[in-house]
Amino acid sequence: MEIIILPDAAEVGRVAGAKIASIVAGRPQAVIGLATGSSPQGIYKELARRVQEDSLSFTEARGFALDEYVGIPADHPESYASVITREVVAPLGFEPSRVRVPDGRAADLAAAAKEYDRAIAEAGGIDVQILGIGSNGHIGFNEPTSSFASRTRIKTLAPKTRQDNARFFDSPDQVPTHCMTQGLGTILEARELVLVAQGAGKADAVAAAVEGPLSAFVPGSALQLHEHATVVIDEAAASGLRLSDYYRYTYDNRPDWQRFE
Ligand code: F6R
Repeated sequence: MEIIILPDAAEVGRVAGAKIASIVAGRPQAVIGLATGSSPQGIYKELARRVQEDSLSFTEARGFALDEYVGIPADHPESYASVITREVVAPLGFEPSRVRVPDGRAADLAAAAKEYDRAIAEAGGIDVQILGIGSNGHIGFNEPTSSFASRTRIKTLAPKTRQDNARFFDSPDQVPTHCMTQGLGTILEARELVLVAQGAGKADAVAAAVEGPLSAFVPGSALQLHEHATVVIDEAAASGLRLSDYYRYTYDNRPDWQRFE
């Protein structure tokens, strides 16, 4: 795992955005796994800046969202379908028909979840999956004790996750109780993972995912099983890491072939 520690959240967005941009520049038809929430917003901002200045295009790319709430209308402003349209598809200029979000309103949710994994496979798999991490260690909405082998499926949101996401809703009880999320097994099949985290509230989760034991109790620790995972974090999110000096040294002395900026 490559750990990149940067001074602040703005740098996290800029550098992680540069990483995604380098992948899309090398493969304009790239299939991108799209996270929602606060963490990846800096990435999307950096990518939108490059699109605006005409140095990058997503018109040939495809996207698959990580997850979606179950039980809120698609046109609700906080459904991930709405968020992806507003924060990703429109500013980056994706062709809307080339971006999918799990269908949290399907009559047969289990069948829709299976079909989502099939659609990812039919698209040739995900080239790069963008990830945030929950304060309880979840990635996607794979809450603690999710199987490392799990596929896209329905999950019950942990109380901590509902509490953390209440800021997006008018009141805490409006946060849906269930979601459809890519599984940890699905996420691990992406060819590359880029996880971003900012702020002290993520420090414990980051430390447990990066340096703790592999455990379904910390779903983010699944990253340790992936051969190409990059974790881009600010100083505050890095504050629980024991080997931060080594990660800084490694990044400062990275060979040319490892540079993407
Ligand atoms: C979002 C997702 C979640 C978030 C995580 C962190 O699609 O799958 O895992 O990345 O809950 O959320 P933020 O970034 O809002 O702190």
